[in-house]
Amino acid sequence: MNSYSFTDHDYDVVVIGAGGAGLRATLGMAEQGLKTACVTKLFPTRSHTVAAQGGIAASLGNMGPDRWHWHLYDTVKGSDWLGDVDAMEYLAREAPAAVYELEHYGVPFSRTEDGKVYQRPFGGHTTEFGEGPPVQRTCAAADRTGHAILHTLYGRSLREKAEFFIEYFALDLIMSADGICQGLLAWNLEDGSLHRFRAKMVVLATGGYGRAYFSATSAHACTGDGGGMIARAGLALQDMEFVQFHPTGVYGAGVLITEGARGEGGYLTNSEGERFMERYAPTYKDLASRDVVSRCMTIEIREGRGVGPNADHIHLHLNHLPPEILAERLPGISESARIFAGVDVTRAPIPVLPTVHYNMGGIPSNYWGEVLCPTADDPDRIQPGLMAIGEAGCASVHGANRLGSNSLTDLVVFGRAAAIRAGTVIDRNAALPELNPHAVDEAVSRFDQIRHASGSVPAAELRGLMQRNMQEYAAVFRSSESLSTGVEKMREAVMMQEDLCVTDRSLIWNSDLMETIELTNLLANAMATIVSADARKETRGAHAHEDYPDRDDDHWRVHSLAWVNGADVQMSYRPVHTETLTAAESGGVDTSLIQPKARVY
Ligand code: FUM
Repeated sequence: MNSYSFTDHDYDVVVIGAGGAGLRATLGMAEQGLKTACVTKLFPTRSHTVAAQGGIAASLGNMGPDRWHWHLYDTVKGSDWLGDVDAMEYLAREAPAAVYELEHYGVPFSRTEDGKVYQRPFGGHTTEFGEGPPVQRTCAAADRTGHAILHTLYGRSLREKAEFFIEYFALDLIMSADGICQGLLAWNLEDGSLHRFRAKMVVLATGGYGRAYFSATSAHACTGDGGGMIARAGLALQDMEFVQFHPTGVYGAGVLITEGARGEGGYLTNSEGERFMERYAPTYKDLASRDVVSRCMTIEIREGRGVGPNADHIHLHLNHLPPEILAERLPGISESARIFAGVDVTRAPIPVLPTVHYNMGGIPSNYWGEVLCPTADDPDRIQPGLMAIGEAGCASVHGANRLGSNSLTDLVVFGRAAAIRAGTVIDRNAALPELNPHAVDEAVSRFDQIRHASGSVPAAELRGLMQRNMQEYAAVFRSSESLSTGVEKMREAVMMQEDLCVTDRSLIWNSDLMETIELTNLLANAMATIVSADARKETRGAHAHEDYPDRDDDHWRVHSLAWVNGADVQMSYRPVHTETLTAAESGGVDTSLIQPKARVY
């Protein structure tokens, strides 16, 4: 092994990732005077949150009656009763405060005539515990809400003197011999140096792993680096079988067309010009939840009613909407449709297809963001020194299916919660522990091995194989046959890691090496996904199993846990939290209203 020198850093907190969750946590930590660093492989305002379009859900009630209790109900139902109710209550209850806080930080929300934050309808968001009409709950900055939030949070974090290590790639967590997270090893992409960070708390805010699939709305940077580090640290990933397909990715390009387009009155048609969602979801139609709409679109295509020369996609119409509304509320997707589909949205429908968009699963945590390392005796056991938030984490607020616009809410509510918690659990006067030298050696040696990999398979080839496998065998609809074949194919793909080749051995701006390390992270996430999906013998939320078409609450209302070690995955399960935080007598939701029932829209 080459010998490497290190630059050392000491912090109270190191946040890995500078998307919405990472920045909100960084800001909250720094505001409390904790010595905080944010380590990020991307420039913060280029993080994938920049692509979040439609908005952030919070029951402000600016456009009509709304209550956090209805938001909680919709989130529980959207999750297909797999989400943890305490975490879902925390999300719905804290969302208005988190959005007002963003407003006061300076996020330029769109406005109503009387100057309030503008809110639009989104799928699955309703009133009266699902018995009333759709609600306008999604707070929007035109169709560039994530972009606006990122810029604001980055500016505020700088003001609070948080320190940023930009274009530093986190390689591995450093764990003590008795399993406490002590910090991390990172690689400075610009000058090639290696950095050891000691911290009292490491916060994983590394985003999702959409790039495990061939067609995804996710940025190329969404490679599940947090999940990869967790697997290598011997910790579990949770509910990885639940992968969300967004109904409206641009056909061929995968670029997102926001659900806000349907919120503003857009609708889907098949080759017969039929608004088919009226048949499947008579009440909420095109604004049913995403898993439902994606499945209906797939059925239409399978039954021969897709549009286009190959009858393989669906049309999204906005051309009936006034051009001035499109220009004011949907300028970004009007431009995307022109660039990526060659469509003028004022005149023609957009060709769309369900496209991988979000990972409901991730690193198990409680609603304070503390990572869990469940055991049979203690399913909620806390892993010291480690938090996970945002799409990387699994609190679990989205369960088996996330509602549109609950993701930005998740980022800021739980980024803020993690900061609040860190402020109470971190002992500012305690000394930092010495880093475990064996763990450092292991992380460096892994890095060095990949750097000098001299097999016959380039990362791009293996990545393509993994992406095609996942797209084919763990798609919108799955079956016992597709999943068992997929598990075998993915095992073979994971074994091929041994034969990877990296051609550039340098340390400076070595994208070959970086993409190979990212691929190893993707493979760990993909393996957990397909094995967890194969194991779950029911249909729930985004996991539509053709051989087990019904939800089975008696056996499967449980979180899946997957410990990944190369091609080997050990599975176990932990119970779903079914209790609210606030009793009905104290103003909370009556739990009889959120008991499992048939999920119809
Ligand atoms: O459709 C969208 O604008 C995406 C929002 C989300 O995933 O929450």
